[in-house]
Amino acid sequence: EQQQREEWGSKIGLILAMAGNAVGLGNFWRFPYQAAKNGGGAFMIPYFGALILLGLPLMLCEWQLGRYGGKYGHGTLGPMVYLQAREGLNPKSAAIIASIAGAFAFAVTLLVNSYYNHLIGWTLGYAVMSVTGGYMDTAKGTGDIFVSYIQNPAQVFTFWVIALAGLAWAVMRGVQEGIEAWAKLMMPVLYVFGIILAVRALTLGAPANPDWSALKGLNFVWNPDFSTLNWGSALAAAGQIFFTMSLGMGIVCNYASYLKPEDDVVVSSVAMISLNEFAEIVLGGSIVIPIAYAFLGPDGISAGVGLSFIAFPNVFRVMAGGQIFGALWFFLLFFAGFTSAIAMYNYLVALLEEDLGIERKKGAIYIFLAYIVVGLPVGLESILTKTADLAYFTEVDNWVGSYLLLVLGLIEVCVVAFFMKEKALTEINKGALWRVPSWFFNLFIRGITPVTLTIVLFFSTKTYIDAGYFRIVPSFVEQTPVLVPWVQAARVVIFLVLLVGFLQSYKSIKTKYGKELESG
Ligand code: PHE
Ligand code: NA
Repeated sequence: EQQQREEWGSKIGLILAMAGNAVGLGNFWRFPYQAAKNGGGAFMIPYFGALILLGLPLMLCEWQLGRYGGKYGHGTLGPMVYLQAREGLNPKSAAIIASIAGAFAFAVTLLVNSYYNHLIGWTLGYAVMSVTGGYMDTAKGTGDIFVSYIQNPAQVFTFWVIALAGLAWAVMRGVQEGIEAWAKLMMPVLYVFGIILAVRALTLGAPANPDWSALKGLNFVWNPDFSTLNWGSALAAAGQIFFTMSLGMGIVCNYASYLKPEDDVVVSSVAMISLNEFAEIVLGGSIVIPIAYAFLGPDGISAGVGLSFIAFPNVFRVMAGGQIFGALWFFLLFFAGFTSAIAMYNYLVALLEEDLGIERKKGAIYIFLAYIVVGLPVGLESILTKTADLAYFTEVDNWVGSYLLLVLGLIEVCVVAFFMKEKALTEINKGALWRVPSWFFNLFIRGITPVTLTIVLFFSTKTYIDAGYFRIVPSFVEQTPVLVPWVQAARVVIFLVLLVGFLQSYKSIKTKYGKELESG
């Protein structure tokens, strides 16, 4: 009944596409400031804990969910989760849980990408500025340059639309000719740029202050400090693992749906994780942290979100060959972001394709327009309010880009572990070179992973309450009344998108599996 589904062209293409999906701004922009903000050495312990206890097991679940769903012609999460939940639940309850999962994935791919596309636009703008020397003039601080960048509609909108048009064009060409082709080109270049930058960073010495040096920066991250471990750093670490591995987003499942039924998911999961972690802790960790430390010292390293766009241009001004290294850095960020955003984009195009029968080319144009609409407030906020707080962006990121990922991950692992049960293990091991042993399945997927995730989620909720995120006027905008409507608007948008996502998923499941739903 199903028309021929698209498939990956080659093993290497698939791995690079998956690496492109995972390796993103999360590795180079988000990881360093999360590590810095959470005490460096104290962050890496829960980070590796989360990698093993949550990341790896969930990655196997997502590849399995995706390949299985693909066999039935699905590339979206609602029906994928339904197919496995119905193995252990009555069809109605299965459909409801699956629709919640579908709603979350829809919200993530639509709303996280709505700000992520802006970040990609900034990286492109800054890459161009590096080449033209746009931030080299020391008369103006790099902080002011950044603020005037995000408050300048010509810059913000031009590079954002260029980035979006590039994504539209790539997705339009399909899985092999578009997604895979771009990954095969951009990912190797990204690793080469990353290695050049890392070597440069590690050979910096102590150019700004004899007490600071690139190697002291490394020491800051790689010196495990158990005494400063706390719940905050553990939560941040779990959140980072989800974000960086693209877990709880639906986009790993979507890419896995283009596998052939016997394609290995175990080796591929491990390869994807390895490539992502290499880019994150080896490259990201040896570029950003040593440079920041060598030039800005221990305080500069916690510059946070602004590290890439404010602190770094400052460094490139004084570094020998700074313009070239600046260009390499921002193009690296651009490639990283682009190959991740393609995955979110493709998820939504697949949704239109499968559920509304809209063909890929047209779908890509509709999604382009949708991203323009949902991304508009992100771009407009700084321009209209003359602030640089990015409150709308922050609200969407706090809920959809962090919290929902964990909830969706928990739903996925529970469905696989407790409803699909042993069948899931059989599925994971189909075509696998290295078979996952049943003790691993029982101990992790049916035990440690869901329990740990539940605990993490409980404490995340508590942290969110304490941080005032649940309040009508969240604490982080209290002092800036002009931003309050932007946060409220973000909440309305999130709610509506979740509602539409739920109804759409339910309808899609009902259309395909209506008979069993009625009998159940
Ligand atoms: N894993 C991606 C990253 O590290 C997460 C992501 C994918 C974010 C797609 C946005 C869009 O950046
Ligand atoms: Na990543």
